Amino acid sequence: MTDQLADAAYLGAIILFILALGGLSNQETARRGNFYGMLGMAIALIAAVAGIKGNYAVLVGTLSLGGVVGFVLARRVQMTQMPELVAILHSLVGLAAVLVGYATYLDPDGQHYQGAEKTIHDIEIYLGILIGAVTFSGSIIAFGKLSGKIGGKPLTLPGRHWLNLMLLIVTVALGVAFVGQSAEGGGLSPLLIMTVIALIFGIHMVMAIGGADMPVVVSMLNSYSGWAAAATGFMLKNDLLIVVGALVGSSGAILSYIMCRAMNRKFLSVIAGGFGSSGGGAAKSGDGEQGEAVSISAEDTAELMGEAKEVMIIPGYGMAVAQAQHTVNEMTKALRAKGVNVRFGIHPVAGRMPGHMNVLLAEAKVPYDIVFEMDEINEDFPDIDVSVVIGANDIVNPSALDEPDSPIAGMPVLECWKGRNTIVLKRSMATGYAGVENPLFFKENTQMLFGDAQESLEGVLKALGS
Ligand code: TAP
Repeated sequence: MTDQLADAAYLGAIILFILALGGLSNQETARRGNFYGMLGMAIALIAAVAGIKGNYAVLVGTLSLGGVVGFVLARRVQMTQMPELVAILHSLVGLAAVLVGYATYLDPDGQHYQGAEKTIHDIEIYLGILIGAVTFSGSIIAFGKLSGKIGGKPLTLPGRHWLNLMLLIVTVALGVAFVGQSAEGGGLSPLLIMTVIALIFGIHMVMAIGGADMPVVVSMLNSYSGWAAAATGFMLKNDLLIVVGALVGSSGAILSYIMCRAMNRKFLSVIAGGFGSSGGGAAKSGDGEQGEAVSISAEDTAELMGEAKEVMIIPGYGMAVAQAQHTVNEMTKALRAKGVNVRFGIHPVAGRMPGHMNVLLAEAKVPYDIVFEMDEINEDFPDIDVSVVIGANDIVNPSALDEPDSPIAGMPVLECWKGRNTIVLKRSMATGYAGVENPLFFKENTQMLFGDAQESLEGVLKALGS
């Protein structure tokens, strides 16, 4: 393939990736966005492979191996395990940046750079390895935390901010030493020491972040993986990689910002760590005395909903676990047939990944026009007859607003308790992801429908006469 043809293919792929991002920002266009992304990636791969002058057997062998592993993993993974899969995939981007960095540094063909060009090339290598190593080790820890292999409690070492500052200063000093020594044909020692420091920093950074703030960390690591790819693009002089890395890097950063806003966290305090105590650890409650939760049957739930004018369904992580979205859709259809106005209220961090609930509801073919973001419907609760909370907990926890000491204090929540009735579907009185007890369950206008959400909803559907 000629260089011009490759450039044209890369440009086409870049445009398709931008169209993909645009498409993915809306449920109705998301499928098209995915298609653009896949097409762009296919063009990029073909152009990259066609441009290689070397051993095709090795290339085809490694591509096939990676492709088969990816295919098997993607088929096996449950929807609830997606965040951990994303985290481990980010670690591979980081690892690739580190390996490409070392390969570029050790490549005898790359020694022709002189003067300022050489300095810039060395800085690219240094930054690529630095960001790649932080992404690699940080993502592995994030994977461990999200999959429950490592506890969700933040590791708050005494003087940890000083430790981070010291690591940063040493990293800058090593960078100066690397660029200086590389000009004279050396520099491997500072590069190796910096890599070890970056790996330690990645581990420490994510270990210090508590369970409740993990969503932000995943999108932040997504952003890092993009910058690592962009740095790799600079090292390899590959425009496509630079632009795609920048797209991933900036969209991950914007997503982190949106999530911080949704959880009322300051980005810097999330990164500094120590918030959001644990994933299911000691429950924390306001004054300890909560009263008693009142339970309700599936038949009574159906009666209450059937007689309502306005119903708000609030899905959460438990709906994903129970895979109850199809039954939710059937129930919605049955209620709408009775003339009930059914709407869905989606919290920005409901579930375990951005857009988790929207994906499940779209899969079950719930009409888009009755699915609303939290900000769009939070003021409507006083007019709601029945709110049905399906496997959600933290996102409907009033203590986020009432208790300044709560690990989720300040996080905006869906204020369903302001409606006439709330019915909570869950299996027990257990806490949610943030490990915080929920006063909603003990409110006078709340009733609990205990059991697996799928089984409970089947009972409700039957009682509705469908
Ligand atoms: P959670 O607070 O985690 O609560 C989910 C509830 O579902 C649990 O209390 C659980 O109670 C119930 N449940 C589990 N399996 C169930 C089943 N089969 N049937 C019925 N109920 C079931 O979920 P949420 O309200 O969606 O809040 C999300 C939390 O995850 C937030 O703290 C958020 O910060 C965090 N987080 C979000 C993301 C993103 S980006 N969305 C990523 C990581 C973490 P029982 O055990 O009693 O059934």
